[in-house]
Amino acid sequence: MFEQLQAAPPDKILALIGKFKDDPRSDKIDLGPGIYKDQNGETPVMEAVREAEQRLFQSQTSKAYVGSYGDEGFNSAICSLIFGGALDTSRVRAIQTPGGTGALRLLADTLKMANPSAKIWLSDPTWPNHVPIAKAAGLEVASYPYFDPATSGLRFDAMMETLKTCGPNDIVMLHGCCHNPTGANPSFDQWKEIAALANARGFLPFVDFAYHGFGDGLEEDAAAVRLLLEQVPEMVLASSCSKNFGIYRERTGAAVIIGPNAERADVVLSQMASVARGNYSMPPDHGAAVVRIILEDPTLRNTWENELDTVRNRMLSLRVALADTLRSKTGTDTFDFVAHHRGMFSRMPVTDEQIDRLQSEFGIYMVGGGRFNVAGLRDSVIEPFADALVAVRG
Ligand code: LMR
Repeated sequence: MFEQLQAAPPDKILALIGKFKDDPRSDKIDLGPGIYKDQNGETPVMEAVREAEQRLFQSQTSKAYVGSYGDEGFNSAICSLIFGGALDTSRVRAIQTPGGTGALRLLADTLKMANPSAKIWLSDPTWPNHVPIAKAAGLEVASYPYFDPATSGLRFDAMMETLKTCGPNDIVMLHGCCHNPTGANPSFDQWKEIAALANARGFLPFVDFAYHGFGDGLEEDAAAVRLLLEQVPEMVLASSCSKNFGIYRERTGAAVIIGPNAERADVVLSQMASVARGNYSMPPDHGAAVVRIILEDPTLRNTWENELDTVRNRMLSLRVALADTLRSKTGTDTFDFVAHHRGMFSRMPVTDEQIDRLQSEFGIYMVGGGRFNVAGLRDSVIEPFADALVAVRG
């Protein structure tokens, strides 16, 4: 049965976890996978999460199945978090999923079922896992221009030119905030243009929303998806609680659909539940129950929001410190973009060869293409990271 099977290449991001662990150097620096680390290099359990887990432990009386839709309280709380209280969410439906990745796959499978000839457009570059997810669902994959390495900014005009060729058979994947891997994001005015184009051309926005609260704040980061909800007749969104609740391994996310009306949204939701049933049957409960407890309790929610503020502000100050250090070491503004980008990542202007040298000579681990995890930095490693960058760039 298995004779013809070739070994799969390792996942480029996940492979770095093992490689970094095996590196014996004590001054090694992990800027690879998107995991938040505090000033001590730890990824602690948030206080609000710990408290919610304790409450769950005290109150849970059964481990019986929850069902394919998952925790309905979580689904409604996560939609309120994303869309806010002011908007009409009567067309919005959500299903709890195993992580944001589970949401991406469930939505991709449902879209393929809804329209077998649909094509999905991914930003160039995008999170590498978007490609296998879309292909596994059987969707045709194309890419649209997004990032300009020369300016470390957007190729917005080129992006819009390409998206003008899209129509009702097309799905356009957009990162709702904190673009992964570049950290470069459309302005609110540019989002308005994207929404208007989606309306004019009839393509479906598919929003990956994995870093809500990691950019400028919970409200600010949701501005683009709220605008889309108001403006476009249909859209889908994959939400993740891995980063903003720090519950990576609990696999907690939601697949959200916005239909043209409540009736259509219900039909799509029922199909999504049946796709889930035929795949993993139902999502794991623990993480979603924890998130629900936090979001439904004003005190716990306040604790969580404060912790999230600390995480975000730390990343923002690391961005500024790194940009300042590189400005003074190079005497140029080449790296100023680091302070302006948002989210967990930015892309350094380095070649693959220079990335290999950073790893072998300096013990600095970055993802191919130059992506580095801002939250992997600490005050004490900013200087050595900047020195190593300057050294390899020559
Ligand atoms: C990342 O991009 O590093 C994270 O989303 C982790 C992952 O699963 O790739």
